[in-house]
Amino acid sequence: MLDVQERPAAGAVEAPAWHRKDLLDTDVLSRAEVELVMETADAMLEVRSRPVGKVATLRGATVVTLFYEQSTRTRASFEVAAKAMGADVVNLTASGSSVEKGESLIDTVRTLEAIGADLLVMRHGKSGAPYLAARHTKAGVINGGDGTHAHPTQALLDLYTMRRHLGGLEGKRVVIVGDVLHSRVARSNIWTLLTAGADVTLCGPATLLPRTLASAGGEHGRVTLTANLDEAMADADVVMALRIQKERQATGLIPSLREYINVYQVNAARAAKAKPGALIMHPGPMNEGIEIAPDIAHGVDSVIEEQVANGVAVRMAVLYLMATARTK
Ligand code: CP
Repeated sequence: MLDVQERPAAGAVEAPAWHRKDLLDTDVLSRAEVELVMETADAMLEVRSRPVGKVATLRGATVVTLFYEQSTRTRASFEVAAKAMGADVVNLTASGSSVEKGESLIDTVRTLEAIGADLLVMRHGKSGAPYLAARHTKAGVINGGDGTHAHPTQALLDLYTMRRHLGGLEGKRVVIVGDVLHSRVARSNIWTLLTAGADVTLCGPATLLPRTLASAGGEHGRVTLTANLDEAMADADVVMALRIQKERQATGLIPSLREYINVYQVNAARAAKAKPGALIMHPGPMNEGIEIAPDIAHGVDSVIEEQVANGVAVRMAVLYLMATARTK
């Protein structure tokens, strides 16, 4: 059992109604649960603003990050988040672990549970791997990105960042442009944005835009698909560019990077078509000069670095809520 001794801000987060053992995607989260994460992240941001920026809320807990794929932002911010709440943190990557000797995923998670892991943050190249892991361990499993499927904490930190600038998302329009087909970020964002009341426009070449995603918006058509970025930008409150994965060019899904840049790069001319002050976002890592022009990535409306900073508070919130659920 975890010893949740210290709440992050007096009175800020009382009796959290979080009962989930795992956080595998955002599609299952109710509006109340999303709201709870957002409110808890507010409290965590307040903790981070203090001179020390740490609490002992997770003292005695062990958080293991298990990454079978590369990461900078997700792994580092989970580590900072867990340490900011006093948890012990163990970082494992597939390279250098017994995975290289052929140990299975199930044996790996059972081993980590046996050494005392309370929460397991996992990234895997195969869609669904964290679901398999969650079925074979009592530890809480947080999906840190699985294949092309889901990246729930990225979507939550994206929503959190939007809310800090726009207030509520009700009736706002969020344009997500790029390689939607391979984007776990886009998929998890669709669910949180719809839950928060936003309308979502997915934009990209037809080869990178799965038609099935339109049905996520239900009969009210709150998810629209278009190949025309110039039209999509009109009246956008938020523009989120996705990394164009260079390796896709080799598979024939885009004719050439030059053509992609001409038609789909988020640049100054296109940003000018969005609402004045529309937020420019990117989950990272960016290919500056390809899906996003450098002056826009670092311009006045860009909140890309803020997304990364907010990621720590949001991941503190998720770790806190999940650890608290384990003590109930
Ligand atoms: N956004 C994101 O998942 O970045 P990393 O791959 O660096 O974790």
